[in-house]
Amino acid sequence: MIKRWIVENDVDNKESYPQIVDAARILQQNEVVAFPTETVYGLGANAKSDEAVDKIFKAKGRPSDNPLIVHISNKNQLKELVEEVPEAAEKLMTAYWPGPLTLIFQKKDGVLSEKVTAGLDSVGIRMPDHPVALAIIEEAGLPIAAPSANRSGKPSPTTAQHVIEDLEGRIIGVVDGGETGVGVESTVVDCTGTIPVILRPGGVTKEQLEEVVGEVSVDPSLKEGKGAPKSPGMKYTHYAPDAPVWLVDGTREDVQRLVDEKRSEGLKAGVLTTDEFAGDYRADVVFSVGRRDDLNTVAHGLYDKLRAFNNSDVDIIFAEMFPEEGVGLAIMNRLQKAAGYRVIKP
Ligand code: TXA
Ligand code: MG
Repeated sequence: MIKRWIVENDVDNKESYPQIVDAARILQQNEVVAFPTETVYGLGANAKSDEAVDKIFKAKGRPSDNPLIVHISNKNQLKELVEEVPEAAEKLMTAYWPGPLTLIFQKKDGVLSEKVTAGLDSVGIRMPDHPVALAIIEEAGLPIAAPSANRSGKPSPTTAQHVIEDLEGRIIGVVDGGETGVGVESTVVDCTGTIPVILRPGGVTKEQLEEVVGEVSVDPSLKEGKGAPKSPGMKYTHYAPDAPVWLVDGTREDVQRLVDEKRSEGLKAGVLTTDEFAGDYRADVVFSVGRRDDLNTVAHGLYDKLRAFNNSDVDIIFAEMFPEEGVGLAIMNRLQKAAGYRVIKP
């Protein structure tokens, strides 16, 4: 049985604190524990211990060449971990930490487990904006390595139930703080060069980064999934339901026509749409991810709906597309990966 600590997000509440202390002690004993962050649930371990970090890779079935993000609860922890803090990184931290932003730094040698950084001389660090995550890290008094708490390849978990589905029998426990807010992972930004580069779009948008540091570029390999991405994790298939997903670069009528075609062949077809249009489709399963007029709701609901298709018996899924603006860039990046970059342009 997996241990499930239910906590109030008001961590100063006396009811929650014993659970937080319990989870922190387990991390200090070099075991792994899942906990909520503002983006998705993370699977935490002591980032200084090979033994602990190894347990993350084993539990997730994660390839060992994919480095982990290190989570901290206060800026003072940074000095121990990195060689220098570039000016752009300093500005971004001031603006967006705690928050869904991971910054890549030149790492200090000999502090973190080599397994965290997968042989790179850089390290990704973030300070999550979630009271439970911050309290656990603070209480553990350690830098905490934490990838998303899913089995490798699956959509990241946005509820404790998702974590249990994926990792029951593989980890000691999950701290359950309810649904996460943002719903997609942090933005990964490399500030070690002259212009900051987005290696993975996420909760902090390109526009928000540019407000603070001026020009920001996007790792070109993210488009079409071609070339070797600078963020090793971006090369793996990910987020995909069991049934193949096709993105439809067309109208709702086009989506309906594709569904009708498949159903006439005797297949079961699903549609991924938004509240505005969910009632208009005739298909075997229709899921709304959120509201098109507020892409934050789409980010919030995306992984839950991608997972939910696996509890249905659809053979194929057609998904509407979104503008690549604001958090839409992260939504489309995840949808393209879920679809293996298959796009139908009717
Ligand atoms: O929102 C998030 O970032 C969540 C929560 C739990 O904090 N974590 C998360 O971790 O998404 P993970 O391991 O699923 O994704 C980490 C990504 C991968 O694409 C990895 O390759 C990249 O960050 N990454 C980590 N360290 C890196 C480094 N030194 N250089 C380039 N990319 C790095
Ligand atoms: Mg992940």
